[in-house]
Amino acid sequence: MRVLAIETSCDETAAAVVENGNRVLSSVVSSQTDIHSTFGGVVPEIASRAHLELIGAVVGEAMARAGSGPEDLSAVAATIGPGLAGSLLVGVSSAKAYAWSWGLPFVGVNHMEGHLHAAFLEDPALSLPTVVLLVSGGHTMLICMQASGSAAENGRAGATGPVEYRLLGQTLDDAAGEAFDKVARFLGLGYPGGPAIERTAHDGDPGAIAFPRGLANEGYDFSFSGLKTSVIRYMRANPQAPLPDVAASFQEAVVDVLVAKTKKAAAEVGARAVCIGGGVAANTALRERVVRVCEENGYAAFIPSRAMCTDNAAMIAAAAFYRLRMDGPTPLDAPVNPNLRLPLV
Ligand code: KG4
Ligand code: ZN
Repeated sequence: MRVLAIETSCDETAAAVVENGNRVLSSVVSSQTDIHSTFGGVVPEIASRAHLELIGAVVGEAMARAGSGPEDLSAVAATIGPGLAGSLLVGVSSAKAYAWSWGLPFVGVNHMEGHLHAAFLEDPALSLPTVVLLVSGGHTMLICMQASGSAAENGRAGATGPVEYRLLGQTLDDAAGEAFDKVARFLGLGYPGGPAIERTAHDGDPGAIAFPRGLANEGYDFSFSGLKTSVIRYMRANPQAPLPDVAASFQEAVVDVLVAKTKKAAAEVGARAVCIGGGVAANTALRERVVRVCEENGYAAFIPSRAMCTDNAAMIAAAAFYRLRMDGPTPLDAPVNPNLRLPLV
């Protein structure tokens, strides 16, 4: 069963063809970073116009690289939310048009569920329950992914059986990626901030400055706005501070809280595995620390490749494959939903 999926929720125009929910035949991502970097962030109107210009070529390229024609496909999927309304509309309208004209079912996919399913692409038999740390530009969540219904069904079930998502905690203010982006902008490191901070931090000392660890001892919720303010105050008081040290110490503060809470959550829910997803999961310091915690505590580590952490359409195809089996197709008159939430138990 081959699914063509389209992802246009923010500033990447992406299309992919994936077989049986885990065999990536093609994954094409056209980034608009260069277009938006002059403005220091994504400009919604420019993003939707760029999606419109790129979508046909990106889908064509994904189909060609997969060696697929419409007759080889079983469904066409697209991200229906959350995201920028105008950007989502381009991907969803295109996917519906392809589905209708090729006589195929359409599947509307939740972008966050796509990030959750990115791990299935590289290891289809994910161990459950899994604690997932979802860290992107818009979200920071700790989720327990478990077999639906009875906990007794947990084990090497993974993508083959129904799963449910239990929210353990989330950010009360800025998302982790947003904190990277805002701090990078303040430090004049450019956009997107995550990779810029990571590059700058490479030559810095992560122990140089003791930035605060937000809500460190309080449950599973996160807070990053105090950390951002603290970096700004520090730079105003110490304008000559070496940027690599500031970037490394900031990155260390974010990674510390993310990893500490993930570790605590995994122990409390009796997790068999820990998984990370979302753009910030591309961060090397975070990836290394999560792997180490898993090794020390006997959890399987599911760390998607960097390309599968940042926005792409292969993860949307993986989630679509799962949703199609669970719920069937999405009606062609289903709207986009910029504020779509994950279905939680
Ligand atoms: O998942 P994603 O591609 O888009 C959203 O759904 O938001 O995540 C983008 C976010 C941005 O805030 C970006 O700065 C951050 O992920 N990011 C990183 C890294 N690469 C991307 N943050 C830290 N380190 C990275 N290497
Ligand atoms: Zn994303």
